[in-house]
Amino acid sequence: MNDPEKNRPGKVKILVTRQFPRVGTDILSGQGFSLTCWPEERPMTYEELSENIKGHQALLCTLTDRIDKLFIRSNPQLEIISQFAVGYDNIDIDAASAAGIPVGFTPDVMSEATADIAFGLMIATARKMFYLHKTILKGEWGYFKPRGNLGMELRGKILGIFGMGRIGMKMAQRCRAAYDMEVIYHNRSRNEEADTLLDAQWVEFPELLERSDVVSVHSVLSDETRGIFDLEAFCRMKPSAPFINTARGPIHNEPDLLAALKAEEIWGAGLDVTDPEPMDRNHPLLSMENVSVLPHIGSGTREARDNMSRLAAENIAAFYKTGTLPHIVNPGVLA
Ligand code: DGY
Repeated sequence: MNDPEKNRPGKVKILVTRQFPRVGTDILSGQGFSLTCWPEERPMTYEELSENIKGHQALLCTLTDRIDKLFIRSNPQLEIISQFAVGYDNIDIDAASAAGIPVGFTPDVMSEATADIAFGLMIATARKMFYLHKTILKGEWGYFKPRGNLGMELRGKILGIFGMGRIGMKMAQRCRAAYDMEVIYHNRSRNEEADTLLDAQWVEFPELLERSDVVSVHSVLSDETRGIFDLEAFCRMKPSAPFINTARGPIHNEPDLLAALKAEEIWGAGLDVTDPEPMDRNHPLLSMENVSVLPHIGSGTREARDNMSRLAAENIAAFYKTGTLPHIVNPGVLA
């Protein structure tokens, strides 16, 4: 960053790995940056990404791009990584920091959209909506059944939030407002805003599992959270409780989730994230009565995606203008 000539936007080449909303790429090209945009809808393979990054100082990427230690070490010309997502578990942050590369991300702007999907999946799962829709398509809507297709009510129930950050907070607000649900949560640290505004209560993980009528996952994927929802965890949950995950698939162990559902250890599951993604179209979870699966659309509103695109672009533009990023994962590298 010391050579102003070197860092003029016109000299900076940015590899854009996906077809992001144009808001962001328009900002960057409008400022004179030189953009190489991957033209296909599908993500690049690791090999394609490794080939295409050559000669680029900046990378505008997303969760489908694996940015690991080898990739980072092989690209000493890389000056900034800007992630189009709030989650960044696809990037080896330690390796980026060791190489002095700042990593930007796009927090906040997709919290409402993602909380809507968590809230929707909770209701859809409690009322078996996805499954019952499929029965209509199969011609099985015979007649009104007074004792059939029964779901569960949510009013006054206990919501257990795993990961009370921005999105967890929005989900809790929705559940409080719509169903007057009591909120308990497990987080690394207490969330004072949740405690004060929602009268929420921090609890240990086992207590969260045992007391919640609905468990909703909103944490980051890390070494600590990977696979934390395993068979043991599901067996601690109430048999009447749905499990909702809109964060990252590997936070739950999918074979264990399937086993828990088959053994009726939990009521059901609402997933916007699976492990792996995409989920196999013949996966047994897809035909289960109390399971609702969506193809990772949490942030999928026009507003959220436009704002994510804008923030990801602003991170790059600000870095080359001021040496800082408005939304940075590893601020220590700029110290
Ligand atoms: C994120 O931002 O991390 C979502 O999973 C994708 O938008």
